[in-house]
Amino acid sequence: ASPPVSLRVSPNRTQHFTSGPLSLSCEGEINSTGWRVRRYTHRERESDCSSGWGSVTGSTCNISSLSPSHTGVYWCESESGESSNPVNITVHNGSVILESPVHPVPEGDPLTLHCLYRHTNSSNLTAKFYKDGLPLQPQTPGEMTIRTVSKSDEGLYHCKHPERGESPQSWISVRGEKTFHII
Ligand SMILES: *[C@@H]1O[C@H](CO)[C@@H](O)[C@H](O)[C@H]1NC(C)=O
Ligand SMILES: *[C@@H]1O[C@H](CO)[C@@H](O)[C@H](O)[C@H]1NC(C)=O
Ligand SMILES: *[C@@H]1O[C@H](CO)[C@@H](O)[C@H](O)[C@H]1NC(C)=O
Ligand SMILES: *[C@@H]1O[C@H](CO)[C@@H](O)[C@H](O)[C@H]1NC(C)=O
Ligand SMILES: *[C@@H]1O[C@H](CO)[C@@H](O)[C@H](O)[C@H]1NC(C)=O
Ligand SMILES: *[C@@H]1O[C@H](CO)[C@@H](O)[C@H](O)[C@H]1NC(C)=O
Repeated sequence: ASPPVSLRVSPNRTQHFTSGPLSLSCEGEINSTGWRVRRYTHRERESDCSSGWGSVTGSTCNISSLSPSHTGVYWCESESGESSNPVNITVHNGSVILESPVHPVPEGDPLTLHCLYRHTNSSNLTAKFYKDGLPLQPQTPGEMTIRTVSKSDEGLYHCKHPERGESPQSWISVRGEKTFHII
């Protein structure tokens, strides 16, 4: 069973540019048990949003200006020690990031990946997409669509533009969805 609380990330993607904002909020069966946002980073190990890297309002943690040190694993935790599923956040001080989902994609769903650029809001650029280091079949420029996601689509993705450079890699995981019972 999945936890009653999940971490909502806004903008809703794994990779972010430095100096951008990030909002993290605990959503779901929130009650008086006090859910807060926590993270793990290589340098600080585990810490609370209230320890200084974000500003807390209720069960929301806002970061006004991201830096590479915000790269880590984030989750919601209650006072009694219950946790949401963890989410990877990567902050990149470069020109290109991959727009990929923070939560596992349900098997059978469609998935579209974009390459985003720091200095333009257009994604109409000739990016190439890679999975586990290997180039994927070219499709629409600047976009990668998987019509029906299956377990085999799980892996490390990144994108690359001939002049602007390449994004970091992000893990995309696939969640086994419905089980059909044949009677
Ligand atoms: C946190 O950030 C979100 C998204 O930018 C914004 O809508 C919200 O008002 C912010 N909350 C606080 C308490 O600043
Ligand atoms: C609050 O929710 C948690 C699970 O999300 C549950 O274990 C706890 O009993 C609830 N507390 C109250 C006061 O409802
Ligand atoms: C986070 O990223 C690591 C390495 O890329 C991966 O092994 C792990 O499964 C990811 N965790 C989540 C919650 O996506
Ligand atoms: C980001 O990159 C710019 C230009 O390369 C550099 O001047 C700046 O110090 C870097 N910032 C961080 C936080 O690494
Ligand atoms: C980004 O979008 C805004 C509003 O849609 C537009 O005014 C602006 O010119 C765009 N900037 C670039 C660099 O495309
Ligand atoms: C990309 O831009 C070119 C020229 O501005 C336009 O002809 C083309 O339709 C655009 N492609 C997409 C997918 O938006």
